[in-house]
Amino acid sequence: MFPDLTRTDLQAKLRAAGQEHLIAFWDQLDEAGRERLRDQIERIDLSLIAGLVRGTQHGPNWSELADRAMPPRAIRRGDPHNEFSPAAARSRGEAALRAGSVGMILVAGGQGTRLGFRHPKGMLQVGPLSSRSLFEIMIDRLRAVATRFGVSIPLYIMTSPATHGETDEFLARNERFGLPASDVRLFCQGVMPAVDAATGRILLAGRDQVSLNPDGHGGMLTAWAASGCHEHALGRGVRHLFYGQIDNPLLMVCDPELIGYHLLAESEMTTQVVAKRDPLDRVGNVAIIDGSTQIIEYSDLPEAAARRRNPDGSLYFWAGSIAIHVFETSFLNRMVQHRDGLPFHRAHKKSPFIDADGNRVEPASPNSIKFERFIFDLLPFARNPIVVEAGAEEVFAPVKNAADAKDETIATAQAAMIARDKTMFQAAGVKVAEGVPIEVNPRWALDAEEVSRKLRPGSTVERATYFV
Ligand code: UD1
Repeated sequence: MFPDLTRTDLQAKLRAAGQEHLIAFWDQLDEAGRERLRDQIERIDLSLIAGLVRGTQHGPNWSELADRAMPPRAIRRGDPHNEFSPAAARSRGEAALRAGSVGMILVAGGQGTRLGFRHPKGMLQVGPLSSRSLFEIMIDRLRAVATRFGVSIPLYIMTSPATHGETDEFLARNERFGLPASDVRLFCQGVMPAVDAATGRILLAGRDQVSLNPDGHGGMLTAWAASGCHEHALGRGVRHLFYGQIDNPLLMVCDPELIGYHLLAESEMTTQVVAKRDPLDRVGNVAIIDGSTQIIEYSDLPEAAARRRNPDGSLYFWAGSIAIHVFETSFLNRMVQHRDGLPFHRAHKKSPFIDADGNRVEPASPNSIKFERFIFDLLPFARNPIVVEAGAEEVFAPVKNAADAKDETIATAQAAMIARDKTMFQAAGVKVAEGVPIEVNPRWALDAEEVSRKLRPGSTVERATYFV
């Protein structure tokens, strides 16, 4: 970082880094444009970019690592040999919730690019009958859990520069969907510039605008510390942090059972997985490499490795990460010191840019490299990390794609929400007529037991109903 650079200083720094083109249009900019550009350039760590471009800070060679990787040991669903029972885990997790030592981190910095939605993903209306937004869906469950255990649960929402303002405004306009202001903290992740894939030059998105992207959810560590969230969490007595992504409306916010396994195993970082249905499912692959638990992102795992099978036909790399973790607050705080240790992953992506003549170019094929850090790369640093399997139908139905895709759309997520609520009704002995959709707000009933207290077992729901 270099404070208050004059143009000459700026030019010298940029020239030394081979990035002088960033101020090619300087003379045409007004004062505000210069200010904006200078500010963006000052935030870029040019030597880091140079290292990434030269490849000295390349990520690992995944194809080599995949050869040595093994499937993880995990707490599997219904396995009588598991070290801890679900009931013991639930009771331990409930005790932690009741003690007020649990907080929630929701990452919501990504833009819905694949979805074609021009707002923060959390604003997407996904409730099948209620049209509740993803933010409201998450907060309803958080409030239900907090009420059940008679505590308040602080919610930390990570935004990015692209989503921060709108998220803040949306939550304020909706009075944080009933959460007191003191229980919600937004913190904004950082950015990384996109570079031209052929030359390594940082791209300009406009004459006064560097092409910047969120630095990946691994950026959370830096942002978490810089925003004072970790101090806030410590001040509130939060010792365990339940972490999830905004794009999954089935997210079991602060699930006592998962928290309980984490605590019983004295784990510093716990990861929930589902058994992959297809070898090429777009989920991270949890594996053990050289004795340590790691996640190999779907885009990094060579196809042959992804397709590898056991003699009984089951997938060798079966454990799909659904990006749900439990962290010890102390672990995150320790890792803040190591944040520069998290590797950067590179993605070859399309980035519109301004060419040397100042014309905007919309590339037809990937032209740039974007750099991102992933929070799951903390796993190898954690003591006693554990992996816990859950059923996808219970915990995972992300919204990633636009309506015309065949999977991971709003429609498939809604169908999964309805199906889960129907299963809960069934467990409560309440029938739902064939083809009739229902939606349950967790503040009305968090589980089958609560349903059976509200509706007579043996009764039938005949019409589409939102239970709220
Ligand atoms: C992600 C995971 C993948 C996991 C899958 C489960 C990564 C790299 N991969 O894949 O292992 O199996 O979810 O659904 O995460 N986000 C930010 N800031 C960022 C980037 C993302 O907050 O800089 C948030 C997004 O808002 C979103 C989530 O992280 O909620 C996932 O991001 P996305 O880019 O959709 O990841 P996937 O490729 O779907």
